[in-house]
Amino acid sequence: MLNANWIQPSYRLRMRKVCALFRKDFHIDKQVDCANLYVTARGVYEATLNNQRVGDFIMAPGWTVYHERLQVQSYDVTDLLQKENTLILELAEGWFWRLKKRMPKAIIAQLHITYTDGTEQDIGTDESWRVAESNLRFCHLYNGIKYDARHTPVFNTNAKIAKDNTQNMLIPQEGEIVKERERLSVKEVIITPKGETVLDFGQNMTGYLEITIDARKGDKVSFSFGEILDKDGNFYNANYRNAKALYKYTCKEGKQTYKPTLTFYGFRYVRVDSYPTDINPENFTAVVVHSEMKRTGHIESSDPMLNQLFSNIIWGQKGNFLDIPTDCPQRDERLGWMGDAQVFIRTASYNYDVLKFFKKWLNDVKVEQYENGAVPDFVPSIYPRKPRISTAWSDAIAICPWQCYLTCGDIEILENLFEPICKWVEYITNSTTKPNLWFGGDHYADWLELGGKYGSFKGPTRDDLVASAYYANTVNLLVKMGKVLGKDVSNYEELHKNIRTAFIAEFRDEFKTQTEHIMALQFELTDKPQDVADSLATLIRQQGNMIQTGFVGTPYILHVLSRYGHTELAYDLLLRKEYPSWLYPISKGATTIWEHWDGTKPNGDIWPKSMNSYNHYAYGAVGDWMYGVMAGINTVEDSPGFAKVHFTPVADNRIDWFRAEIDTVSGKVSSRWWHENGKVHYEIITPVDSTAIIDGKTYTLTPGKHIF
Ligand code: BGC
Repeated sequence: MLNANWIQPSYRLRMRKVCALFRKDFHIDKQVDCANLYVTARGVYEATLNNQRVGDFIMAPGWTVYHERLQVQSYDVTDLLQKENTLILELAEGWFWRLKKRMPKAIIAQLHITYTDGTEQDIGTDESWRVAESNLRFCHLYNGIKYDARHTPVFNTNAKIAKDNTQNMLIPQEGEIVKERERLSVKEVIITPKGETVLDFGQNMTGYLEITIDARKGDKVSFSFGEILDKDGNFYNANYRNAKALYKYTCKEGKQTYKPTLTFYGFRYVRVDSYPTDINPENFTAVVVHSEMKRTGHIESSDPMLNQLFSNIIWGQKGNFLDIPTDCPQRDERLGWMGDAQVFIRTASYNYDVLKFFKKWLNDVKVEQYENGAVPDFVPSIYPRKPRISTAWSDAIAICPWQCYLTCGDIEILENLFEPICKWVEYITNSTTKPNLWFGGDHYADWLELGGKYGSFKGPTRDDLVASAYYANTVNLLVKMGKVLGKDVSNYEELHKNIRTAFIAEFRDEFKTQTEHIMALQFELTDKPQDVADSLATLIRQQGNMIQTGFVGTPYILHVLSRYGHTELAYDLLLRKEYPSWLYPISKGATTIWEHWDGTKPNGDIWPKSMNSYNHYAYGAVGDWMYGVMAGINTVEDSPGFAKVHFTPVADNRIDWFRAEIDTVSGKVSSRWWHENGKVHYEIITPVDSTAIIDGKTYTLTPGKHIF
């Protein structure tokens, strides 16, 4: 509980337009021992104490299911205090706007001061705080900002206590904080065929633009943001849909620097729409913003395109791990889509330490689960949309904690999610129209699979087959988790057996698409896996050595091929440069993973603007094949957190050398191989007792370096 009240302006600010500033002046005449500022908002906020920004959390308090869980940040402000003090809180909408009908936007803060004489003082938000309109005349998550540097805030009214003044949803900060992480300079100033000036930062990213300008009072500056240029080399951002992503800045007199820190943009290109002076590239910086996560995984090879692919995977993660795992950072979406998160989680958990990040988000998943066990398709959900309960999306509730457990060895995450997963399984069991399978329902299934109608989001893979396969997988994970937690899971073991039997009887190994084969192989839903894998390989060859899979088939296709002796074909798919493939976007200059295999088509046409993100990490899930098969670094289920490692590297003649390393909780694990004198050499470094299979031979490894 904070010794404070939720406050709002007492007059109607042109809310959702002009942002509010809340101010408290106070005097201190004793010696301060320590001082902490606690703040949170129904909206996003920034605090300044005596003109200094408090902390470096961008878009605080982050995004949670606000009416149930709202994180309170605590900042040590001891060093910022003086005799005369001014504390200012700026409030913008952030993620809160879609909940506005449920609760009014407001802010709450408490400054707790301990003096050296042992006395304490609290300064909490209440009606004595003064309110002014901010320079931020407009600030919106999707629509960007309008900022008037000429405006001088006038604190001429008092705050009022907000209508909903309860604090029962307040929780301490749980997730990683979002921070400015990198600064990128302009790579090139482009004059497009249309004659527009476009700044190219050389990298698609998430964050905002910082400008420095020497201007006259009233000069107008305005920019538009885009991820790509069209085939003629002109600026393009129709794929942002309704996200206006405005950046309209009115100058004050003289030299000034500005960056909009209460919203964010997904962009590589910035079109200069209005600018009063000549463009000096040095006056523009792209500030990259994402959740603070420790980088743990690295991959490098002799193949520049593979290196670019890995870089795109990393940038996809940076761009979409901004407090919650989002689908994309640019269009009017930026939501915590469950399907996207689960397909990418293994790669994500090798690239970065994401345990804290996922623990927080999974707590939101937990509170968003319905009474009947249904799990929504994205979390936090938004008002008033009714979620779709879809296979492979809702299943993130089981897949994400299990992967966090495998990568990090954290049991708490399993304990926390076990019951909700049981409820989710119960929901499927109760809602299917065919016992022991999941028939019926409304699924995304193999979303964006190829082979459907032109411009369609779905291909020919059967939804019921995908749903039944994921049902089996989730129950199987539940069994594994239960065993780790020492629970009796015999009923789930039985259920899993029944699903498997029903699946085999229903689908009889007659799989029509790549993804249908993959489901059966990955989730072990066939008695003849080698035959099914061979049939998958034949199908892929018949289809011209081309991947056809969507969201659910893509993360597993290379794994199931290499698992059943088709590693060379898996490498064919990975190294293919023409559409459709992972490297095709790179041939088109991609610096992040695309949502569609053909976001930009070979002839330069662009996918319909209705759904075409150039920063969508889902297909970056191929990263876990690069770690797990190329480098052969694998977790061992009964020794999670890399307490043991199982190495199975497999080289390919088309790549001279390859290396990967993961800084695990058990120490640094690394694997590399190179070709020399017609032979492949392998080097493994393990911090723990491990096993390896190299060229079909099995080895037991002690900690240290091993060369084969
Ligand atoms: C998102 C996806 C998401 C999907 C649901 C899209 O609009 O961008 O990545 O998973 O909807 O199928």
